Amino acid sequence: MDFAARITGTGSAFPKKRVTNDSIVQKLSKLGITTSDEWIRERTGICERRISDVEKPEEHNSSLGFSAAQKALEMAGKSPQSIDQIIYATCSPDTPLPSTACWLQHKIGADHAWAMDINAACSGFIYGLVTAEKFIQSGQVKIALVVGGEVLNPILNWEDRNSCILFGDGAGAAVVEQVPSDSSRRILRSHLRSDGNLWDLLCVPAGGSNMEVTPERYAQKLHKLTMKGKEIFKVAVKTMADFALITLKKNQMTTDDLDWFVPHQANLRIIEAVAKRLKFPMEKVLVNVDRYGNTSAATIPTMLDEANRDGRIKSGQTVLLDAFGAGLTYGSILVRW
Ligand code: ACO
Repeated sequence: MDFAARITGTGSAFPKKRVTNDSIVQKLSKLGITTSDEWIRERTGICERRISDVEKPEEHNSSLGFSAAQKALEMAGKSPQSIDQIIYATCSPDTPLPSTACWLQHKIGADHAWAMDINAACSGFIYGLVTAEKFIQSGQVKIALVVGGEVLNPILNWEDRNSCILFGDGAGAAVVEQVPSDSSRRILRSHLRSDGNLWDLLCVPAGGSNMEVTPERYAQKLHKLTMKGKEIFKVAVKTMADFALITLKKNQMTTDDLDWFVPHQANLRIIEAVAKRLKFPMEKVLVNVDRYGNTSAATIPTMLDEANRDGRIKSGQTVLLDAFGAGLTYGSILVRW
């Protein structure tokens, strides 16, 4: 028998603390850095984001993932014991070792699963979903839990107004189950790619094994995120549009066949430019960047959960997920919901 994969449950969770643009304006002004609510809204579409208090265990990355996963399992009607595989997409793990997936396994009690992290930055959830689909198609996994979660606040450079205004924390989860390959509701197609030549557009230089954080490097903030925003903007618009079309074409579809487009939520202007390039109406583009900022691997699963729960995405509809992220990484998935 041939198998396919279907998303049967979604969930999301965010830290309690809402940080408005005005509170960032105040925070940066204490450091002598100028920004404004108007600039942030106009250039990014972001009004507020959630930021974890990392002193609180319940706001650690895996704890947000745990809350999101519990909601997704409840929707799917599955127990933690039934999970075969946990994939945790993140570039801000709880600890370098063990993986955030293992932290989540410990917290949720998924004793029969095997767990691993995927680091594809903002494309992480797409990479995780495709990986789960392949294991499910192979017959090795019946139920997978795929989480995209980030607590980026500790790696943000709050003296860099170009980047610190963009990001937020949160987690989204999906339960993915094995179904017969002729099921109409399933993951239909996907397309993944990366370009490591563009590694320097978005990176955290120190803190890995090739650059220990010494006091000098700490002072230079080399353990914090650094970004070439303008360059990323251009690549993102082109590749997201290209990837959307490639995945649709692989399935003999066009944008006319789509009910919803769920892009990675990095910047509203990027999203609008991609929609324009695709000649796709913004009314069918799902957006939450205004309320949560760029939560990296969490943007797509949290957006999916919101629209799934409020009834915008309906059973049988065709949804295209499309992401880009540090690496650079790219990926899109076509889903019949
Ligand atoms: N407040 C006020 N002014 C600012 C701020 C700020 N927060 N940040 C930059 N500026 C200034 C710049 O210094 C510049 O001033 P200058 O003209 O005197 O030099 C001016 O605003 C214009 O700067 P630009 O860089 O041209 O602004 P742009 O319109 O390109 O917007 C931004 C910058 C928001 C970073 C945009 O390029 C962007 O969103 N890029 C993509 C970033 C991204 O998506 N990153 C994550 C992708 S991967 C992932 O999701 C993990």
